[in-house]
Amino acid sequence: MVRRWKNAKSPRSMGKIQMADTQTAALILAAGMGTRMKSEIPKVLHPVAGQAMLERVLATVRQLGISETYTVIGHGHEKIKAHFAGQSNTTRWILQEPQRGTGDAVRAARASLLDLASRARTVLVLSGDVPLLQASTLVQFLESHTESEAKASIITTDVEDATHYGRIIRKGPDGHLAEIVENKDATGEQRKIREINTGIYAFDVRTLIEYTDRLTPSNKANEYYLTDVFGLMDADGIPVHPVRLSPAWEFLGINHRKELSQAEAILRERKTTQLMLAGVTIHAPATCTIDDTVEVGPDSVIFPNVSLYGSTKVGRACQLRSGAVLHDVVVDDRAIIKEWSVLEHAIVGPEAQVGPFAHLRPGTKLGRDVRVGNFVEVKNSTLGDKTKASHLTYLGDSTLGGKCNIGAGTITCNYDGFHKNHTTIGDNVFIGSDVILVAPISVGKDAFVAAGSTITHDVPDGALAIARERQVDKAGYRAILEEKHSSSCQQCRDGEKHGGH
Ligand code: UD1
Ligand code: CA
Repeated sequence: MVRRWKNAKSPRSMGKIQMADTQTAALILAAGMGTRMKSEIPKVLHPVAGQAMLERVLATVRQLGISETYTVIGHGHEKIKAHFAGQSNTTRWILQEPQRGTGDAVRAARASLLDLASRARTVLVLSGDVPLLQASTLVQFLESHTESEAKASIITTDVEDATHYGRIIRKGPDGHLAEIVENKDATGEQRKIREINTGIYAFDVRTLIEYTDRLTPSNKANEYYLTDVFGLMDADGIPVHPVRLSPAWEFLGINHRKELSQAEAILRERKTTQLMLAGVTIHAPATCTIDDTVEVGPDSVIFPNVSLYGSTKVGRACQLRSGAVLHDVVVDDRAIIKEWSVLEHAIVGPEAQVGPFAHLRPGTKLGRDVRVGNFVEVKNSTLGDKTKASHLTYLGDSTLGGKCNIGAGTITCNYDGFHKNHTTIGDNVFIGSDVILVAPISVGKDAFVAAGSTITHDVPDGALAIARERQVDKAGYRAILEEKHSSSCQQCRDGEKHGGH
């Protein structure tokens, strides 16, 4: 039976997904060479919108509440395991070596499937290279599989360009699924078919074992095709339940870099659309790169060419102006990040203004209404409320109180060649331009430091510190200099013009 659903809802709008069948396990195929990627990195580790493909697939499976997951790896298996080493409870690994096709990958999992058969009835089979798949779609699919009482179900979809996919061959007056033919093995007539295999299946565990046992590598690639089980089942009169879904973008398989960029564009567009519908203005969404994990509050405005990565969280009514790049940054309400500023692992207080051309490095914490202006670099430092460092300054490993003014060209000398040393500046301090603060050092509250000073010992509260050469004025210096020159210069004596005369 062919079933059509409306577009799948996004997991976000579904709340907690409830599994229809708790007796379901998942098997993810991820051992392939990924030859067409032309990469040293295993295909399933390539990130899409900031997250490795396989990580996305595993996260989707977890959303379903499926706890028992097996992943078949082979090509680059050490790298894949290393990638997930820090994450607990992700999946159990099955090694397929050598890799002789998708059917061979399932056969590599035979022992685990046999063991599984005593506990679970259904196994959901997915590919590690189909990363856009949404949990809500799988919930519908598994429900339909259970209702159908079929031994195998498959998601199919219709695409414009079916080149890289297996074609669904339907037969008989009922149009039942009779077999799947890969592009390489298809006839000219079969290649015209637009209904394709998404590579997403639900099997009765014992049926999957039985039919993969019977596979042979009788095709042009000399591989064991998992897709051949459907022809075998049809020959035995065992119905397969095809679930024909749209839109097709969700089932995009990534085989080469062009498809990788298509997947990236789809996810980026989905994210900017979600943000805009949630009240964020984005001037030129196609130019912005915003990870799925990023949050932005309503009435915030994102200018063109902004990049927001990782755990970045932006409050309400903020402005992120052109070229701002934020990695794991928290920006509080009504703050403005001006053009071409780079922020990493930093916290920006409410109403603060950063940039243009500012660099906030890890460990920076700006209080309320702080100003960090052009060509200012801040690292591992806290700036109290209303403190300003407006131009050409480096603040590293320092703690500044509130309402300070840091003059242009101020530098904390935090590194002595061996250790990083701390600078402490109290509230309401005025630091003149071009001041060098040799850490460890502290400047007491309400103090002043004169412009051009090199400060090497602590400044008491309320004091003025001046640490520079006293100015000397030599009267009549120009006249003396000119007289000295002309008395010794022949050209000047001859009345000839030369040089600057
Ligand atoms: C496969 C399907 C095709 C379907 C398409 C959907 C087969 C024979 N073809 O084609 O009908 O339209 O997916 O995206 O199944 N893998 C292994 N071990 C192997 C080979 C592959 O684990 O020996 C894994 C890959 O890592 C990948 C998945 O199986 O994640 C699919 O393999 P791939 O080679 O990409 O198959 P397609 O040619 O895309
Ligand atoms: Ca593929």
